[in-house]
Order: sequence, then C-alpha cells, then structure tokens
Amino acid sequence: MNQPIMQGVAALNAPAYVKHQKLINWIADMAALTKPDNIYWCDGSQEEYDRLCAQMVAAGTMKKLNEAKRPNSYLACSDPSDVARVEDRTYICSTNKEDAGPTNNWMAPAEMRATLNPMFDGCMRGRTMYVVPFSMGPLGSPIAHIGVELSDSPYVAVNMRIMTRMGKAVYDVLGTDGDFVPCVHTVGAPLAEGQADVAWPCNNTKYIVHYPETREIWSFGSGYGGNALLGKKCFALRIASTMGRDQGWLAEHMLILGVESPEGKKHYVAAAFPSACGKTNFAMLIPAIKGWKVTTIGDDIAWIKPGKDGRLYAINPEAGYFGVAPGTNTATNSNCMASLTANTIFTNVGLTDDGDVWWEGMSKEAPAHLIDWQGKDWTPEIAKETGRKAAHPNARFTVAATQNPVIDAAWDDPAGVPISAFIFGGRRSTTVPLVTEARNWVEGVYMAATMGSETTAAAVGQQGVVRRDPFAMLPFMGYNMSDYFQHWLDMGKKIEAAGATQPAIFCVNWFRTDDNGKFVWPGFGDNMRVLKWMLERIEGQANGVENIFGLTPTFADLTWDGLDFTQAQFDTITSIDKAAWAAELALHTELFEKLAYHLPVELEVTRAALEKRLTA
Ligand code: GTP
Ligand code: SPV
Ligand code: MN
Repeated sequence: MNQPIMQGVAALNAPAYVKHQKLINWIADMAALTKPDNIYWCDGSQEEYDRLCAQMVAAGTMKKLNEAKRPNSYLACSDPSDVARVEDRTYICSTNKEDAGPTNNWMAPAEMRATLNPMFDGCMRGRTMYVVPFSMGPLGSPIAHIGVELSDSPYVAVNMRIMTRMGKAVYDVLGTDGDFVPCVHTVGAPLAEGQADVAWPCNNTKYIVHYPETREIWSFGSGYGGNALLGKKCFALRIASTMGRDQGWLAEHMLILGVESPEGKKHYVAAAFPSACGKTNFAMLIPAIKGWKVTTIGDDIAWIKPGKDGRLYAINPEAGYFGVAPGTNTATNSNCMASLTANTIFTNVGLTDDGDVWWEGMSKEAPAHLIDWQGKDWTPEIAKETGRKAAHPNARFTVAATQNPVIDAAWDDPAGVPISAFIFGGRRSTTVPLVTEARNWVEGVYMAATMGSETTAAAVGQQGVVRRDPFAMLPFMGYNMSDYFQHWLDMGKKIEAAGATQPAIFCVNWFRTDDNGKFVWPGFGDNMRVLKWMLERIEGQANGVENIFGLTPTFADLTWDGLDFTQAQFDTITSIDKAAWAAELALHTELFEKLAYHLPVELEVTRAALEKRLTA
C-alpha cells in the first residue's frame, strides 16, 4: 500500500492486508505526533511473540526462566514506582461533568486534549511504535468489539497477545470500514539520540484517559497492567460500560463460572468482587464437596446481553488471565498453579536461584535465597528483619485462558452462557455476613450498589481502608454511577417484561476475621458450600431465614461434609450486629447523598425500609 511519506516521520509501511484507510490515517497522525523511530505492525504470531520476548531479554526488561522448570516463561520486574493501577490519574472525559459522575475524575475533552497533546508530542522518540490489533470477544462474533492499541512498549504487545485475540486476523474483521476503538499508549519516556534505555521505562506523571463519547483511550506514563493493557479495564469496562448503557447491555467486573451438580444440572453464575478480592480463585475453584464440578468462562470481565428468550447471556471478552500471584498455591488453587507451568509471563515476583519464580504464599517454606522483584538479595531472614517482600503484593501472571485445566467448553462461544445468578462480594473483616440472598431484583441492586470493600494492592494508595465500591465497579465506571444503577434496574424490568426469570442476586463475604485477625472462613474450595446453597435456592430446594436486609442460611442449611466447622464459628461470620449495621447504613446514606443526581428512587426507598427495620 502506498503511504504518503512525511518529513521526519517513521515510514508507516502498512502491510498490504491492512485495507482500512481511516485506521491507517489515524496511525499516521499518531506517528506524526508521537514521533517513534520505527513503526512495527504486530501479526500476533508465535514467532513474533518469541522474537519480542528475546528482544526484551536482551534489553534487560525480562528474564527467561529455567526452560526445564518453567518452559517458555519470563519474569519482568517493573520500576518500583509503577506497580498498580493509578485511580487518581484515571479520567472520564465526557462533555458534561454529570455524565462522568461524582465517582470519576473528570476534565472537559477539549481541555484534556490540550493537556495531553504537548505531552504526546515526541513521546515515542527513540522507540518503536507497536501497532496492536485486537478483538475483545471471539473474532468476528456479533458481540465482540475491535480495538487497536498503539504502544511504545513491547511488554504491552506480548501481554496483549495473551490477554486478547491479537493479530492480523483482526484486519479481516475490520475490512475497509469496520469500527474500532483507538487506544494510544506511551510509557512517556522518549530517548534522546544515543541515550541508553532503562529496563522499565515510565514517567512519574501519569494519565489514563477515556473519551466515552468518541470512544477513545489515551494512556501516558505507566507500563503496568490496567494502565497499559488498554483492552482490559479501559476498553472492556470503562468504554464498554458506556456502549452497554447506549445499546442495552452490561459490561461488568465479573468472573463467569459454570457449576454442575452431581445430578448433572448445570448453571452459570457471574460474580463481581473488587480487585484482588477473589475472582480468579472463585472462577477456577476446586469444589470441596464431592461430585460438584466448576468450570471457567472468565476470571475478570463479563459482557452481558439479553438473549432472544429474554434471559441474560454472558461472554468473557478476554482471552487470558492477568492474575494476582501472591497467595496462589497448590493447596488453595491447584488449577491456577497448573495453568502457570509454562508459557507464562510473571511480573514483579521473586526469581529463585534455579531460575524459577516464587511469591509469598506459594509454599509454606520460602527458598533460602532469591532475588526479589526489586532485584535485591532476599532471604527469609532479611524478610523478617526488614519486612521486604519477595514479590510485590500486586505481582501478577499473564497466561492464556486455554491453559486453564478447568476451562468451560463454552468459554469461547459467541452466543455466551445464560446467567442464573449474580454474586457480589467485598473484602470485609467485620459486619457483612458470609452470604445473603436478595429477596428481589431491586433489593439485589441495592446490595450491589452499597457494597463496601477494603482497598487492596491492585491500586496505588492506602490499603485495607473500607470504601464503597458499587458493583465492584468504582474504578471502572465509564459514566455516571447513578445512571448505571438505573441501567441495572431497567435491565431487571426488561427481563421481567420478556417473561424470563430474573437471575437471583446474592451478596457474599469470605473475609470476616476473628479477634486475632485471622480469616474464620476457609474460603477457596470451601466457597463451594455457599455456591451449592445458592443453586439449591434457585432450584427451590434449600431454606434460609429472613433478616433485616435479605435471606441467609442457618448452619443446618449448608453442607459440612469433609470440613470441621462449628456452629460457633459459623455464628462469628454470619452474625448481624445491629450497632455495626447502623454504622454501615450511615455509609449507605453518605453514598446516596454523594450520588443524589439521578439516584433511582427505588434505591432510596429500599434504604429507608432497611433503616426502619433496623431501628424497629
Ligand atoms: P483482580 O485480578 O485484581 O481483579 O483480583 P481477583 O478478584 O481475581 O482476586 P484473586 O482471585 O486473584 O485473589 C486475590 C487474593 O485473595 C489472592 O491472594 C488470593 O489468594 C486471595 N483469595 C482469593 N479467594 C480467597 C478466599 O476465598 N479466601 C481468602 N481468605 N483469600 C482468598
Ligand atoms: C484489577 O485491578 O482489577 C485487575 C488488574 O484485574 S489490572 O489489569 O491492573 O486492572
Ligand atoms: Mn480485576
């Protein structure tokens, strides 16, 4: 294809198979602005992946792990200042401030463009711009959407190959005029002539910017996770939630799992937990109760659309898992460990002396010596003295979904799977009981909307602080939170109007602690006990008792086979303390005051009724 050659701009050299002039023009414009030395068009092949990884090994960005221990796997260690999502640097730039809502950072689009343009001018100097075409969802499926990420990070290019359907086939889907979401990403560290690069370039100034109305994403200054892999939170949640509002579907921070009873009855459920609160683990849990089977559709994001029968159908728009490493081990999640035996990129974990990886919680006994994620010598003694960790608490693995031994047969089905229940869970050391069923859709939406959770290492900032995290979407909403609540209420009404059964809604908390700060609930595979009760509720086979805000099982309503768990322990994690709930309710009120603009009246009515029951 003939390209206009601009003075001082890297040659575009678009491959002949790219036939989309608007896309080519956009890339030319972005190249003229960012001024990379080279432009490289990713084809998504294994050969390309291996070559880019080898290049990063030579550059010091990645280390190849011991081929005998962990074949075709790498360790990347980031700059210590670039280890997690930066929520206070994340913007939703809609024309009207109210459309971003009070939970998002906002700037007017024109003002943001005026801010970013000078920053992006020349930001890729000395680097290669990778053109990364990707599909969120199965290629060519009617529910999938295409994105093209321009990035000056080869680490982003190889991670995107695992996390999405990335490669040349995307251009066939795009054709000459297909829609795509343009995503521009730079680490924000141009190189002067002859200047040596560092292992993990990034910039102290960071901007993660979304223009929901024009469906564009611009990201500056970080090379890590959701800040840089723009198909994930930026596209599949923030931009997609806006598309869903406009088109009548939902983009959610949810895992999707299949669960089959010993009698062969299968349901699919979708569950929202905030970051680092158990989605990946729940999605591939190994049931502690005999005869039950759990299979994975997705571990982080769900796109959910009404089907012809009026039910909700969910797909996983991703193709890989970018999961939390610390705490993962063969006892708590051997499916996850089995996924990671080869073809995995690890980021910010420890490097053992035999060229393998280790993180806190991987084994009871730590290696006698390793190199920690910051490149320093690490021993259990040093850790004890200094508190220094082998792996950063937000260390992650990137692995293809197909490596999951319990991947569901329908995980790639463009039609999606029908959802029988939604589960919402926070990380709460107190107050919130193990499980509660909402008595109706509105009560379920209320529970999800008012959910609180303790902050984790997945985002930069203070940890362990309880904050309201509606639907586990606080950092991922692309529009006004109250409008989003309304959208959920409307979806419920549509299901009802179509004559279909609304999915049941449950709220869970695996994280209540005892007086010593230890988790009381065993969690992980034992979460099957709660899941079993939910399915039996759906089937009309299990009981529960009503309390002030929903319906909960008694000790006798759960199955305890193979677990030594006493009624007294059960009481500690299911008790409803009136004083604690009065304080909790005050936080609901505070949230609703903040979200007063467009807050659905049903939610305020539900809150008032709860208050009345609490003070009765
Ligand atoms: P993101 O990828 O950030 O969205 O996180 P996630 O929601 O997928 O969380 P993940 O499953 O990776 O779990 C995060 C941390 O919580 C890990 O250290 C897990 O070991 C731990 N965890 C997960 N499930 C449970 C559980 O049932 N009980 C307890 N106590 N810990 C859990
Ligand atoms: C999360 O923080 O919820 C993640 C990791 O899944 S990231 O891709 O960094 O957003
Ligand atoms: Mn997540």
